[in-house]
Amino acid sequence: MTYDPISRTFVDFFREHGHELVPDGSLIPPPGDPVLFTTSGMHPLTPYLEGRPHPLGRRLVNVQRCLRTTDLDEVGDTTHLTVFRMLGSWSLGDYGLPQSLRWGYELLRDGFGVDHDRLHVTVFGGDDQVGPDESSLRTWGELGLPVELTGQENWWSNGPTGPCGPDTEIFVWTGDGPPRGTPGTDGRWMEVWNHVRMRYRRHPDGSLTPLRQPNVDTGMGLERLEMVLRGHRSVFETEGLVPWVRGVRDVWDLRDEPLRLVGDHLRSSVVVVGDGVRPSNTGRGYVLRRLLRRVLTTLWRDEPSRSLSDLSTGPVRHTLDGFRQGVTVEEVREVLSGEERRFRELLRRGRPVVRRRRSRGPLTDEDYRDLHDTHGLPRDLVDGLLSEVG
Ligand code: SER
Repeated sequence: MTYDPISRTFVDFFREHGHELVPDGSLIPPPGDPVLFTTSGMHPLTPYLEGRPHPLGRRLVNVQRCLRTTDLDEVGDTTHLTVFRMLGSWSLGDYGLPQSLRWGYELLRDGFGVDHDRLHVTVFGGDDQVGPDESSLRTWGELGLPVELTGQENWWSNGPTGPCGPDTEIFVWTGDGPPRGTPGTDGRWMEVWNHVRMRYRRHPDGSLTPLRQPNVDTGMGLERLEMVLRGHRSVFETEGLVPWVRGVRDVWDLRDEPLRLVGDHLRSSVVVVGDGVRPSNTGRGYVLRRLLRRVLTTLWRDEPSRSLSDLSTGPVRHTLDGFRQGVTVEEVREVLSGEERRFRELLRRGRPVVRRRRSRGPLTDEDYRDLHDTHGLPRDLVDGLLSEVG
């Protein structure tokens, strides 16, 4: 497997400490998994965190592509991406969290050259079910790092039920001049690496029971780490995003937030299409549809004649190569153009229908249902058209 230098440094470090490399899986979780997309490096490992023996052993490392829809509204700022890569390491009932923190510190400082003084950590301060994470406090104290105690921000779970536990997060100072404040008081502290003591299972009634084995699960966003290490101001200046920012700017006059949103959503859509998803009205296909419609809505706000076929093939090819995906550039462009045609047509038909409905007064739930069932207009699209009417 070929890796960029940052991923390679990460993977090599953990391999030197006895970890086996798990290949990068697709964004599509295995059958039976209730979530639509892989949201973190630990996700495909859930059965093994719950105690099933992993064929590669108890120490694992990987670089996993992830997609998070929970952050969709934040995309457009300088640190959030819809599709990103997560560098992850695991101890499946093997070493404990203090060892993981020591390795994490060593890798950041000596492997990646991050100055000790630019680091700050947060630690779980306890709640009514689980006490404060004393051992992380002790370890960070021995390593001489400043600690901030928090509550629920330092509790990690992948959903309302399932494996979970307290975590400790490592932040890097990204501001000019010497660090100030704490991660909780100054947004220039950027979270890069999360180490989770994955040792509980949350049940539907909210209670917690210990997992069969205590695990460590760590995850670090590759693009954010690259941003920090290269001294960039934004994840959009990193290797995987630059072709999109350039490609979009070359053909459309966009800047700042709309530029970042369009770049992120197009790149994410390409990865999703590359993993075999096609636009539809449900499930994964609907996530893809929403991404593309957000792009088109943003583009058409200023200039309705803009088309995704204006974009050159370079960024698409760059992303498919980067994620080692088998589909061709032409296939991707066909999916994008097809979706653009459908959306244009839907807006053309939907606009007068929604206007007529609105002229009779505010829309009721029944109106929304009817617009969806009879005219094929989903609620978020109707809301978009309503905002045009004002
Ligand atoms: N599960 C943790 C996260 O996603 C660490 O991998 O942040």
